[in-house]
Amino acid sequence: NIADSYNNPITIAVIGGTGLQSLDGFSHIATLKPTTPWGNPSSPISILHHDSPSSGNPIPIAFISRHGLHHELAPHEVPNRANIAALRSLGVRTIIAFSAVGSLQEKIKPRDFVVPDQVIDRTKGIRPFTFFEGGMVGHVGFADPFDPTLAQIVTKCGHSLEGEGVRLHDKGTVICMEGPAFSTRAESDMYRSWGGSVVNMSALPEAKLAKEAEIAYQMICMSTDYDCWHDSAGDVTVEMVMGNMKANSLNARRFVGAVLNELSKEEHEDLVLAKHLEGGMKFSGAVT
Ligand code: ADE
Repeated sequence: NIADSYNNPITIAVIGGTGLQSLDGFSHIATLKPTTPWGNPSSPISILHHDSPSSGNPIPIAFISRHGLHHELAPHEVPNRANIAALRSLGVRTIIAFSAVGSLQEKIKPRDFVVPDQVIDRTKGIRPFTFFEGGMVGHVGFADPFDPTLAQIVTKCGHSLEGEGVRLHDKGTVICMEGPAFSTRAESDMYRSWGGSVVNMSALPEAKLAKEAEIAYQMICMSTDYDCWHDSAGDVTVEMVMGNMKANSLNARRFVGAVLNELSKEEHEDLVLAKHLEGGMKFSGAVT
């Protein structure tokens, strides 16, 4: 049964966030349910074929829904280590991760996209956040939490869709907070004073674990609200987040389609295989 026996390596994955629980417009090839030493991933992994106009060969994509198929996992309940380990075990070396975010800057309007280049960690240390423990010590470099080469491709693709209603901000700092409650107004003001661009609950430890697994990782943020600092926009609610995500899901699908088209070009083969990250963890080792 092909549904649980897809044996070819899959190098590219998409992690869908709130409001992007599935990716239609792609053909569904198989559903995999891998298990890992860190438990089961958030959702079964869908293997989708993206019919790339550039290469002629359909490219397999692994898709995982971060909060579960029915949005049943709160941000602090997401099994991030299982998600990253399961994707890596399929051969994934490049991840495009979507996330709904609150905007901390006037110019980042609801429904705008942001391709962040930095993160500030405001999680509370309660989420398992590393593969390196229990006798395996490793210190991964995290100065650039997202992959700059992948970011270039993602921003180029986003800008190519500007005529079709996609508004994109290159670069930005995402504040990753613990949640699940939204921020207080004082926290929101503080994040703005720190130079934060957007706030979410999902960038970490996902980005950190991808780095430890030598996977090229880039998050695409979709702004859904002005959090609670804005004088006239109204404080963030779940309805606001869901409503704007839904309204923007066509743009998100177009965006991811453009990125996958580009990544499937032969010239990006080394990037997709994360050749530039190989050996990044070579100084880690077992301590007995
Ligand atoms: N996700 C979407 N909007 C958010 C906000 N204002 N704060 C944290 N996470 C969010």
